[in-house]
Amino acid sequence: MRIIRSVSEMQQTALALRAAGKRLGCVPTMGFLHAGHLSLVALARERSDVVTLTLFINPTQFGPQEDLAKYPRDFERDAGLCRDAGVDILFAPVAAEMYAAGASSYVTEEKLSTGLCGAARPGHFRGVCTVVAKLFNLCLPHVAVFGAKDAQQLRVIRRMTRDLNFPVAIVAGPTLREADGLAMSSRNTYLNADERRQALVLKRALDEAAHLFDAGERAAAPLKSAMEKIITSAPAAKMDYIAIVDDETLAPVERLERPALIALAVFIGQTRLIDNVVLRSSPVTPKVRP
Ligand code: PAF
Repeated sequence: MRIIRSVSEMQQTALALRAAGKRLGCVPTMGFLHAGHLSLVALARERSDVVTLTLFINPTQFGPQEDLAKYPRDFERDAGLCRDAGVDILFAPVAAEMYAAGASSYVTEEKLSTGLCGAARPGHFRGVCTVVAKLFNLCLPHVAVFGAKDAQQLRVIRRMTRDLNFPVAIVAGPTLREADGLAMSSRNTYLNADERRQALVLKRALDEAAHLFDAGERAAAPLKSAMEKIITSAPAAKMDYIAIVDDETLAPVERLERPALIALAVFIGQTRLIDNVVLRSSPVTPKVRP
């Protein structure tokens, strides 16, 4: 596995690989890798000849009160996991290389990024779009893989890729969960044992919404209040938001007639966790005429 730190070396390498006819896959991450990230590497591997995993804790997507300084880091462990997972290139630039002094250009998506996490974390998606656009320009992937756990991020990146004509296929990797259902996240490492146990309310709330939906409930309000009840039963939980939105437009819905995304963000102690589920009615099987 090759480790690249310099942005120009990354771009030259990607250009040379493309010239040699290689299909390039990219998995953007902020490191502190877990099995969820490695499943994205496996998806990239299936679709490309050369897989680059990018490891960059992107300062522009953190707000001033957020956890940039204490975001978990362990480069040696991450590099080992990448090697074992068959990553070809680990691109781990330093911030001064990624953002030139006085950098003043950003990429903004203006519709899908305004609600949900975008409302709770102003400027977050501008930072995400900017760094992902830069990573696309440096790694020149044919295909890039993102986790479905970050539901809004995935939709914003798809929209940006389409709107700015990046020739990159965006692939979504399903959310990987711990045995008890907690969605895998680098931030889970912040939780103490008691918080870790209480964090299960996120999945329990989503399961309850899915259960009510399967039983025929289509109004958003009762789903939301059932979820709220579960979340607030955990003393360490503080609701950031529960959103029930159209899966395509991310506009809030009152009834779940089209595929709907239920997304939630909850603080467990000081740690903000997110999770989501997409609910869609199963297609009606057409009646066969006798
Ligand atoms: O999902 C993440 O880890 C980050 O938001 C991403 C896409 C790597 C951009 O920094």
